[in-house]
Amino acid sequence: MKKTLLILVISLALVISACAPQQATLPPQAPAEVTAAPTQGESTTVPGPQTQVGPTTAPAGTAGEASIGDPYAPELGNTGYDVDHYTLRLSLDPEQTAISGHATIQAVSTIDQLDELSLDFTGFEIDQITSEPGGVSFSRPANKLQIDFPTPLAQGEAFTLEVTYHGTPTMEPSAYVPFVDSLGLQFDAETSTIYVVAEPDGAHYWFPCNDHPQDKATFRFELTVPEGQVGVANGSLVDTRTEVQNAFPDGRPGDLYIWEHNYPMAPYLATAAVGNYVRVESTSPGGVHLRSYVFPENQAYFENLSPTLGEMIDWMGAQFGPYPFEEFGYVQVNGLGASLETQTMVILSVSSGESTMAHELSHMWFGDWVSLDSWGEIWRNEGMATYVTQMWEARNNPDGLEQALQDWEQDIEANPSGYPLGSPPKMEMFGRDSYYKGAVVFHALRTEIGDQAFFQGVQTYLQRYGGGSASDPQFQEVMEEASGKSLDNFFEAWFE
Ligand code: ARG
Ligand code: ZN
Repeated sequence: MKKTLLILVISLALVISACAPQQATLPPQAPAEVTAAPTQGESTTVPGPQTQVGPTTAPAGTAGEASIGDPYAPELGNTGYDVDHYTLRLSLDPEQTAISGHATIQAVSTIDQLDELSLDFTGFEIDQITSEPGGVSFSRPANKLQIDFPTPLAQGEAFTLEVTYHGTPTMEPSAYVPFVDSLGLQFDAETSTIYVVAEPDGAHYWFPCNDHPQDKATFRFELTVPEGQVGVANGSLVDTRTEVQNAFPDGRPGDLYIWEHNYPMAPYLATAAVGNYVRVESTSPGGVHLRSYVFPENQAYFENLSPTLGEMIDWMGAQFGPYPFEEFGYVQVNGLGASLETQTMVILSVSSGESTMAHELSHMWFGDWVSLDSWGEIWRNEGMATYVTQMWEARNNPDGLEQALQDWEQDIEANPSGYPLGSPPKMEMFGRDSYYKGAVVFHALRTEIGDQAFFQGVQTYLQRYGGGSASDPQFQEVMEEASGKSLDNFFEAWFE
């Protein structure tokens, strides 16, 4: 989805690439002009064996950058285009780590003369890539899928890529999540389930995408699962079909689950889960449709919890503005010592209860509806989720809230981490400071400017940046507007 910062970054990239000599941006292989097959009937005079393609004879194509410009995670995301919609068609059998996938990516060029772009994608074998307009070729630099267009696209021009792929996902640790073996698709043998954990850099381990929260899109999932099992994803379940013939490579039939999520979503928040789940459904008093997918032995627990969950989601709506998406719920998973705020369908560890449910639910507003411009700003996601959880738990006991926050602040002062809150070392992205120091900062801000300005500012922030992403300076700006005072000294003191 479009956003001002993205446009700024792109304009900057444009300026830079306009100044740089054309060859400097070309891949080390042969230049695109030479490898692209001439369109039929067209007489081209591109010299064959001669490798010097002078700037004067080269068509004025411009490559998108293979980085979206996040200084904390420069390897992620890409520029030159903006994805509008992903359709992911996947065959997933918990008994087999090999999957087959088909991703349709509908996007728009954001620069003029776009003739080369990158997606993030790791592993798998690509069977085929087709496109509209047609004729693209591709290559695979490390963790990227580079697409070359034979005819450059105009700024604003729509295009579609269809990537067919198969194989066993690459499983390697993420530098940001040292406590999980690998991100992307997870296979739990104990419960015979598949699910996805992708924060922050795992989405491209299960589908080709622009893997950064600055580029959000809507999603459709068509999940084929073994007969009798259940396929779960983000958004609303729009259709199911049984006895789908040849659903798996060995010819077995399967069941099809089609999900659609019609709100902008960052790729890392997309999820797919397959298992023997039971659906537990209810509606909050305020009218939010709740549906969770749980293991059969936990059905009664979740049914009993439905009123609490309804109360919780309405309470958060009252604090921050209405729940931003069409539905909400959890999908239980085993074997992961953590939970994840996958949009509208939270990955919930079997060992987690109400407070984790509150934490992940609050991320729907903080992290999902408004995303981070840079992963270095993770304190805004985790700090707010930690703070909101404490607010929920102390909703009838304001002294309890004050006490908890004071305890955390004392602990942080007594045991300083030694790194700045706004840029933790990668392996500390999900460390204590992001969660607890982050929460302490939000509470201190509320104390500094008062309840009225705090809640009004936070609501404005959600309205202004909802559906997109925002930066720390943009958050500060909104809070300054709401409070009518400069917060430079406040943020400098906490972020030094
Ligand atoms: N955002 C998650 C939370 O709600 C962090 C989970 C960390 N694990 C991971 N794979 N990123 O706390
Ligand atoms: Zn969290």
